[in-house]
Amino acid sequence: MSDLTSDTDLWDREAQTFDEAADHGLADPECHEAWRTLLLEHLPPAPARVADLGCGTGTLALLLAEAGYAVDGLDFSPEMVRRARAKAGDVVRFVDGDAAVPPLEPASYDVVLSRHVLWAMPSPSDALTRWTELLRPGGRLLLVEGSWSTGAGLTAEQTITLVEQSGREAHLRRMPEPVFWGREITDDRYLVVSPG
Ligand SMILES: C[S@@+](CC[C@H](N)C(=O)[O-])C[C@H]1O[C@@H](n2cnc3c(N)ncnc32)[C@H](O)[C@@H]1O
Repeated sequence: MSDLTSDTDLWDREAQTFDEAADHGLADPECHEAWRTLLLEHLPPAPARVADLGCGTGTLALLLAEAGYAVDGLDFSPEMVRRARAKAGDVVRFVDGDAAVPPLEPASYDVVLSRHVLWAMPSPSDALTRWTELLRPGGRLLLVEGSWSTGAGLTAEQTITLVEQSGREAHLRRMPEPVFWGREITDDRYLVVSPG
């Protein structure tokens, strides 16, 4: 069994209960509105073309499609993609594929968005190179990441360094507010925006 296959199996299992976390399912209207406001504050005006890499069950992709964006969601877990299609398949195009080498058209997106996926890439630096190649001139990168109490993740400093090493600017917006997570948090969660 390849590592990729064992990873997809792991995420297939995670998919069963994925939307139960407040920030995943966005079932609470205040939490949904907090994410909507945050993302729209940093996106170009709709309509614009967005690639959501490692889109999971498609919650953010749907939120953006409802706000008028043309969204392609990509994930390598068949169960995540099945759930995403059931949730948003009529307004979002979902693609099965590896975010490390996304099978999407280069230079064709205004925004590459990825939440909690860069940390899981075998080489975050190589992945970022591929991700920025998807952007049109002037396109922007939005990375939601964290350095979690479990020890997993990327620190804000690591993410900023990765973006800057790709030759781009990086702006940090820390996200300590409980409204994003459905509870108080003690670890470091944040958004890094890299404008075009
Ligand atoms: C923590 S979840 C985040 C899901 C979604 N971005 C969100 O925030 O709701 C990580 C997601 O990345 C996907 N993923 C991890 N490694 C991947 C890879 N190499 N290619 C595509 N998807 C990947 C998993 O299947 C999972 O859906």
